[in-house]
Amino acid sequence: MSHKIAPPIPDYLEETYWWAYVRPSAVRFFERQWLINFILFGNYVTLRNAVLDEFGDDLAGRTLQMSCCYGDLSPRLAARAAKNGGSLDVIDILEVQLDNLRRKMTPEMHAQTLLMDATALALPDQSYDRVLLFFLLHEEPQAYREKSVSEALRVLKPGGKLVIVDYAQPAKWHPVRFLIYLFLARLEPYAVDLWGRELADVIPAQMAGRRWQKSSYFGGLYQKLVSTR
Ligand SMILES: C[S@@+](CC[C@H](N)C(=O)[O-])C[C@H]1O[C@@H](n2cnc3c(N)ncnc32)[C@H](O)[C@@H]1O
Repeated sequence: MSHKIAPPIPDYLEETYWWAYVRPSAVRFFERQWLINFILFGNYVTLRNAVLDEFGDDLAGRTLQMSCCYGDLSPRLAARAAKNGGSLDVIDILEVQLDNLRRKMTPEMHAQTLLMDATALALPDQSYDRVLLFFLLHEEPQAYREKSVSEALRVLKPGGKLVIVDYAQPAKWHPVRFLIYLFLARLEPYAVDLWGRELADVIPAQMAGRRWQKSSYFGGLYQKLVSTR
């Protein structure tokens, strides 16, 4: 089921990411797990499993994924949720992305797709047991990024788990440091913020007052941040 009133597509998405997410031809091209794995230097399965392991087998209750992603992460989350009577809601600002996700789901998965802006969720406070942000923040300009994290925390139940997976600052010795910098600076300009600083310094107000646990992957190029309180 899709939320009916379409939010406007933000400029950054249309201008910077038309080739990756917005055009139907982009979705047809990129919805290949091997390709996403290639773009992530072979780390898709590691990062997907890091999310699944972090949430564990028991996804009873309500899980929210803030924005779609290519590959089989969302169907796997939904299948786990359904196993324990839970449900997965996935929001995205693009109908074309939600259509694509629906093609990957089966009715038994108890997943709901909602057309919404991550920066203004039409969802009640404290209504989700867990919330996932998988590679969303690096795509957003700073003001959107701050609002997305604020919204994630607003809809999370007290004691619920927030998981963020995204780019991070790689180690100085990293063999692809320079290559990835050129790639991000050219194609994903907002990602360079996360690349150059800790997320806690990029969005300090949103992260303050909570405990965060960071895990690094692939020489620090990717991070998983988890907060339960
Ligand atoms: C999560 S990210 C990319 C994930 C990663 N590149 C992958 O596929 O594994 C891409 C999604 O974020 C969505 N998105 C970007 N800004 C958004 C916003 N403000 N609200 C909701 N969805 C947004 C895009 O429409 C797109 O579907």
